[in-house]
Amino acid sequence: MNNILIIGGNKGIGLAICQKLLVSNNNRIFCTSRNYPDELNTLDKLNNIQCDITSIGSIKNLKQQLSKYVTHIDRVINCAGVLHTNTYMPEKSLSQVNQEHLVDNYFVNAMGHILLLQHIEKFLVAAKNPIACSLSARIASISDNYLGGWYAYRMSKAALNMGYKTLEIEWKRKHPHIKILLIHPGTTDTDLSKPFQKRMNLKTLQSSSQTATMINSQINKKLNGELGSLFVDFNGDNIEW
Ligand SMILES: NC(=O)c1ccc[n+]([C@@H]2O[C@H](COP(=O)([O-])OP(=O)(O)OC[C@H]3O[C@@H](n4cnc5c(N)ncnc54)[C@H](OP(=O)(O)O)[C@@H]3O)[C@@H](O)[C@H]2O)c1
Repeated sequence: MNNILIIGGNKGIGLAICQKLLVSNNNRIFCTSRNYPDELNTLDKLNNIQCDITSIGSIKNLKQQLSKYVTHIDRVINCAGVLHTNTYMPEKSLSQVNQEHLVDNYFVNAMGHILLLQHIEKFLVAAKNPIACSLSARIASISDNYLGGWYAYRMSKAALNMGYKTLEIEWKRKHPHIKILLIHPGTTDTDLSKPFQKRMNLKTLQSSSQTATMINSQINKKLNGELGSLFVDFNGDNIEW
């Protein structure tokens, strides 16, 4: 049985990934949202459990709840991310840069992903062929930044990438069996992209279901040793840092 942890599996891309993986009888899913209950009382094929990756207490509770039922996790897919909220939108210029928004983006998009892995490392170590994957974004690429804007999101996703690059070096030494992957999912029709879809070429807008299929395929390729790069897009093509 594959134990799979999907952070932010309740909506958008995470939900679509969860739905695809549930089709296989070999997969048992632990799916998180900040709004789910904070206790696991039974073990089912799909288990909903709370996690706010900006809170160490919440991450520790997740670890404790998982420990009640499993000793290993085969696959972690972290889909948590913030670009805008009810109170702020991404910055168009330096004058709009705001300390609270920078911190909020950093906490969710970068810090939370690394702290989550710190706390569930032991479950990955115990698995036979494990993988930790986070959804990053092409916009994190410094060399690919031709448009500017979106300071907090760009900076936080670039920080996530640096965290993974650093972890790759550490785990190659300590736990060479754990694979790690950063994926740009492609522009996908979710709440996150909704406010910006008017300006997009709708032909390139992917459905969550299409994106989930491509992400799962890249994760499988990475597990089979067919994907060399750490930071790839939904097609598996390398993205420059
Ligand atoms: N959609 C796109 O076009 C696109 C493009 C490039 C990259 N991405 C990346 O892909 C990922 C998924 O995006 P999406 O489009 O599916 O967005 P979405 O529909 O807005 O979903 C965001 C997810 O993040 C979770 N989340 C937010 N804050 C969290 C926190 N503090 N702790 C734990 N979970 C948290 C939410 O869960 P709750 O609110 O229920 O807790 C939700 O499941 C994000 O990392 C995003 O940056 C998306």
